[in-house]
Amino acid sequence: MSLFLIGDSITLTLLVFLILIFSYYVYNLRTNNIFRRIGIPGPAPIPLLGELFNAMRRGMYKNDVALIKKYGKIVGIYEGITPIILVTDPDILRNVLIKDCHVFVNRRVIEGGAGPFEHGLTMLKDEQWKNARSIVSPTFSVAKLKAMHSLMNDVSDMYNERLLEYADKQEIFDIKTINGQYTLDIIASCLFGVETNSLKNENIILINHLKKFFTLTLTRIFLLFILIARRRQCLERRNDFIQMMIDHEEEIKDQEVGQQSKSLRKTLSDKEILSQALVFLAAGYETSNVLMSFFFYVMATEPVIQEKIYQEIRQEIGDNEVTYEKLNQLQYLDMVINETLRMYPPVLRLDRVASKDYQLGNYLIPKGTIIHAPVYPIHHDSEAWPEPEKSYLKAEKAKRHPMAFLPFGEGPRNCIGMRFALVEAKLGIVRALRLVEFERCGKTEVPLQLGKIIVLNSKNSIFLRVIRRSQ
Ligand code: HEM
Repeated sequence: MSLFLIGDSITLTLLVFLILIFSYYVYNLRTNNIFRRIGIPGPAPIPLLGELFNAMRRGMYKNDVALIKKYGKIVGIYEGITPIILVTDPDILRNVLIKDCHVFVNRRVIEGGAGPFEHGLTMLKDEQWKNARSIVSPTFSVAKLKAMHSLMNDVSDMYNERLLEYADKQEIFDIKTINGQYTLDIIASCLFGVETNSLKNENIILINHLKKFFTLTLTRIFLLFILIARRRQCLERRNDFIQMMIDHEEEIKDQEVGQQSKSLRKTLSDKEILSQALVFLAAGYETSNVLMSFFFYVMATEPVIQEKIYQEIRQEIGDNEVTYEKLNQLQYLDMVINETLRMYPPVLRLDRVASKDYQLGNYLIPKGTIIHAPVYPIHHDSEAWPEPEKSYLKAEKAKRHPMAFLPFGEGPRNCIGMRFALVEAKLGIVRALRLVEFERCGKTEVPLQLGKIIVLNSKNSIFLRVIRRSQ
């Protein structure tokens, strides 16, 4: 009996202790709320979760719209216990992303949590980032993209075969799955030098291919190093990212013969090359899939727009080869892709950290403050986008604030893969639309429900069907 009483009093003491700690935490959060001190408006934080609770409940994109509507263009929120300032004021954003970008070079990085991605561009900071970005940037030049074109074409051949199979069997399919296979195969082939061929094998679920890719067992790492070593010894060549990095190293060596060694490194180690390629896969796979999937959803639900794009393709390219130059002539297609990116921006927040105390509009923010640009409310602001369908015409575009459209971010830390992603998507789209017409079916969800996570995606599958075109 007395043992039970002792047990009860220990539980009670523990409970009181926990309540005291929690009350202190809530009191501390409220009185030391950094935003109160600075004067930035925002919601009272929910203990431990902050706005994460509402973001999970409503979806981040909807929650961001609600916050901006309620508190204005600068809002202080807590994500978990981390304070973050949301900024949608276009002039202030321009300062953060472009004019004062030297203050906002870095993103928030969780130290030690990046594993094999740790040398990747998204994670690197300050001089290390600048150095790596300047080495990697030329890989995404027009000339290098043209060199990768035939690798992309091979994958789009497989994509078309699959679409024709669906058309002939009159089969309804999930466009997200096949686009995921297309973007995985393209990125793996063009950037990693590995043929995943997920489009060839329907029975293997996409996730298995991704798992295979991201499970960097010792054997896999070893094999990837062998792949790089073979390229270094010129035992094989391929117009992909790894080859370009190796060629770049040779060029630098040639240039530096006879010169004194420079303090800034101009090449990447094998480990760094692998890390970059992995980050490209992570940053480019889902985002490109989302773009293409929403695009084909628009095609299926807006047949007039689909027909207009088809007519443009016939007029500008006909049955000829779809080259890089030809893709750039398709102006209407470009507008519809941009409008898709405006309506459904794959990346919902841009992220920067202040490297010193900074005057953010009317507020003095301390060094280390995290700034987020919530892209969805920016893209859906009716003041900036009074008539979206006209907004891509040259004259209207010139009037638009440059910070009103941010699907690929802005400034020196913007998306390095933007051109790559657009070529990849346009090539897949143009070659597909020449062969088949997309239609909605009984299982197509209209309107689409959107997912709740950081990359904007549809919540459910996007079921469509295709019909062979008769020419
Ligand atoms: C439709 C497709 C894509 C979208 C919408 C997209 C969007 C973005 C956005 C919004 C950012 C952040 C920019 C900023 O903070 O200002 C970003 C960064 C980045 N993206 Fe993309 N991206 C796409 C495809 C790709 C592809 C295909 C690759 C690689 C091949 C890629 C590689 C990267 C990298 C490495 C960064 C970090 C750049 C740095 O920190 O220097 N992205 N992307």
